[in-house]
Amino acid sequence: MKLHYGRMLNDKLDGQHGLPRHRLQELAQRFPAVAAEVDTRRGQGEYGFYGLGRQTEVIRGIRRFADGVGQAYDHVLVLGIGGSALGTKALLNALRPPAWNELSDEGREFFPRLTILENVDPTSMAAALRRIDPRRVLVNVISKSGGTAETLAQYLVVRAWLDQALGPDAAARHLAFTTDPAKGPLRELSQKEGIAALEIPPEVGGRFSVLTPVGLLPAALVGIDIEALVAGAATALETAGRPDLLRNPAALYSALLWAADTSQGARVHVLMPYSDRLRDFSAWFVQLWAESLGKRLDRRGQPIYAGPTPLGAVGATDQHSQVQLFMEGPFDKVVTFVRISDPGEDVRIPHRPDLPEELAYLQGHSLGELLAAEADATSAALARMGRMNATLELPRLDAETMGHLIMFMQLATGFAGVWYGVDPFDQPGVELGKRLTFAAMGRPGYQREGPVAPEAGQPADVA
Ligand code: PA5
Repeated sequence: MKLHYGRMLNDKLDGQHGLPRHRLQELAQRFPAVAAEVDTRRGQGEYGFYGLGRQTEVIRGIRRFADGVGQAYDHVLVLGIGGSALGTKALLNALRPPAWNELSDEGREFFPRLTILENVDPTSMAAALRRIDPRRVLVNVISKSGGTAETLAQYLVVRAWLDQALGPDAAARHLAFTTDPAKGPLRELSQKEGIAALEIPPEVGGRFSVLTPVGLLPAALVGIDIEALVAGAATALETAGRPDLLRNPAALYSALLWAADTSQGARVHVLMPYSDRLRDFSAWFVQLWAESLGKRLDRRGQPIYAGPTPLGAVGATDQHSQVQLFMEGPFDKVVTFVRISDPGEDVRIPHRPDLPEELAYLQGHSLGELLAAEADATSAALARMGRMNATLELPRLDAETMGHLIMFMQLATGFAGVWYGVDPFDQPGVELGKRLTFAAMGRPGYQREGPVAPEAGQPADVA
């Protein structure tokens, strides 16, 4: 994987916007202190995801499960939210053929379908339960804490549906939990009812957990090469210890985005892969960047109100949607393109007699060529307009490069926490909303939070 970052620098843009080249040297000089802080915090048990490049035992356990019990099902239903769902969605989208669930058994090479329910929208749940045969499903309930309201509510609904169709004993054999090794309601239930349960390492935070059994189990069940995923992550980790910022891609990327935000006003960080297969990866990145870096307090407990706003886009589709804003709107963005050099499969644009002149240029090219030309053109056009942008170039998109890309972003997020001076592993901002939800749902002990009244005042009539 390569990081092209020249177009972050003002001498490659319009001379006015972008980072002055000497900033690179300044960032490189500051980097040893950043790296030292990461090392210290790792010593204190933070940054647990650094351990995910070597997982021989975990992989063996998942393989045993997937090749044994897992074979008995032709549908996997994942229940989870946030870090317990987004990574799995990204893996399915990137590493299995499009429209996986619509393919025949042969088309899926007899691997199961995979449905991921990440919301408590009753219409999604009701539709899924109508579509899925309870006799053929394995339900993987994923929650690190084991007590997240949305996931546990989903579980209760699905459990009743299984119990009704199969009886409680058989229902338990259609369940696998992925949760903390020792604590939380899901762990307790698994012990009480003898339900299979995989472990999420306690030192790995939710949004950093896709390369634990959280993502690896569903991935293995649908035939994704999880050994290669982890090997790709290990490759990213190898370069993360380099002391020279300019030779440490994840650290350099985090430094450039932080500097763009804090010294150039580029507070919006757009991730724009030129691939439909990375659409869900963008959504995963958005959560990782937002929840890790958006913080009210700094590490010393002082108000800081830090955090760039991540934004997902997909090329070329969003050239006809958001790119106008990126090109001519406020100078408050950095766009990171992700390009795949070899798309794996390409489609030729056929010749056709008597085409109007305005269309003739397309024939003889391929859709892959057009997509690549559009990525190049958009990056160059942004640069001409003085807009900072960078490109992550993958040789191809497979399990190994995907593992690399995921770990690259996790590492960048970990470094960014230090540049911004915030704790990238907590999320205190989501707590108040959770407590008010508990109060509204009548959970004992939360009445003191007060009623959650609808917004006061007369609603405006929009009819
Ligand atoms: O990154 C995080 O910690 C969160 O997004 C969690 O993944 C999310 O809240 C779900 O939590 P849990 O896995 O405990 O159900």
